[in-house]
Amino acid sequence: MAELRYRGTVVQRGEDETVLDALERAGVAPPSSCRAGACQSCLLRARAGTPPADAQRGVRESLRLRGYFLACRARPDGDLELDDGDEDRQVEAEIVELGHLSDDVLGVRLMPRRAFEHRAGQYVTLRRHDGPSRSYSIASLPEAGALELHVRVVPGGAMSGWLAHTARVGDTVSLQGPAGDCFYLQDRPTQDLLLAGTGTGAAPLLGILRDALRHGHRGQVVVVHGARTHAGLYLEQAFSSLARAHANVRYHRAVLAGEPSDGVTVGPLDAVLSDLVPVPKDWGIVLCGDPGVVHAARRRVFLAGAAMADIRADAFVPTAAAPGLA
Ligand SMILES: Cc1cc2nc3c(=O)[nH]c(=O)nc-3n(C[C@H](O)[C@H](O)[C@H](O)COP(=O)(O)OP(=O)(O)OC[C@H]3O[C@@H](n4cnc5c(N)ncnc54)[C@H](O)[C@@H]3O)c2cc1C
Ligand code: FES
Repeated sequence: MAELRYRGTVVQRGEDETVLDALERAGVAPPSSCRAGACQSCLLRARAGTPPADAQRGVRESLRLRGYFLACRARPDGDLELDDGDEDRQVEAEIVELGHLSDDVLGVRLMPRRAFEHRAGQYVTLRRHDGPSRSYSIASLPEAGALELHVRVVPGGAMSGWLAHTARVGDTVSLQGPAGDCFYLQDRPTQDLLLAGTGTGAAPLLGILRDALRHGHRGQVVVVHGARTHAGLYLEQAFSSLARAHANVRYHRAVLAGEPSDGVTVGPLDAVLSDLVPVPKDWGIVLCGDPGVVHAARRRVFLAGAAMADIRADAFVPTAAAPGLA
């Protein structure tokens, strides 16, 4: 049975337990959210011992090489000595703007207190000083200085509720990351791009589109934003004006309920993508937002001819309860 050493506590990992489960049982758990390997908020470092390779999937190479891994995915056979990693991975950031982009989406701008290298479209993990950690995607370009995040307000949400009702401009949070490979690839300036997502999955799409246009992208860019109803298309103005200003950009909307009209289709996002780009072979594809929709869309574009290597996705996997609380 593997022995885990963390914050002065020694824990035996139980059969089938992940490192996160075992540390939670011992009352010394690091922050976590999705428990599915999607948000990277549970990143730990193995100072001694070897973390399982599948618990390092998606972790940036520079961190992987230094022993960082995802505690919610790790079921190591050998002993591990653990810590939270270098303090410089956490950056203090000040909330410099907080306002509604729609009834249930907040726009949040965070100014890191020191240099914070990132790409538009990647995600960061926000940590409140009194506990919860959650991941959010970046809609702004690095030159903007402050990071622009779009946060859907979830009823009873520990982070989104705090941002909506308690946090004030001037408050600080801790930022960790960035992570994820949903960003613009400068070395493919003529590749056609399909950027699709639901809900606040539009935030990374806006970031990637801004970056593509800033680099003078020459291929066509098709942006498809899906929502339950028209009210959820909170970036309609921003995307429409970018499409008007750039001949190679097309903006399309998909709603599950409502009336079809010019540029608006009623139907699930993956079906709409098939109609707009029937054969996405050689297209660069980015999919973000609801995990079920991302999964269906990824499958659809792959079966229609897109190469796996050309499909990048961030599924916004919500917080999962610890096993004992589920
Ligand atoms: C890689 C990544 C990027 C993300 N980017 C964004 C982003 O840019 N914008 C954004 O708004 N969110 C994003 N998320 C989701 C975000 O991290 C949080 O999960 C979300 O904001 C809810 O956190 P909360 O603390 O407000 O609610 P919690 O306290 O975590 O949740 C309250 C309750 O609501 C449930 N719940 C929360 N969200 C959902 C959901 N979508 N569907 C069903 N039940 C739910 C929870 O399970 C819980 O029971 C991202 C997630 C990942 C993994
Ligand atoms: S990646 Fe481990 S909790 Fe999300």
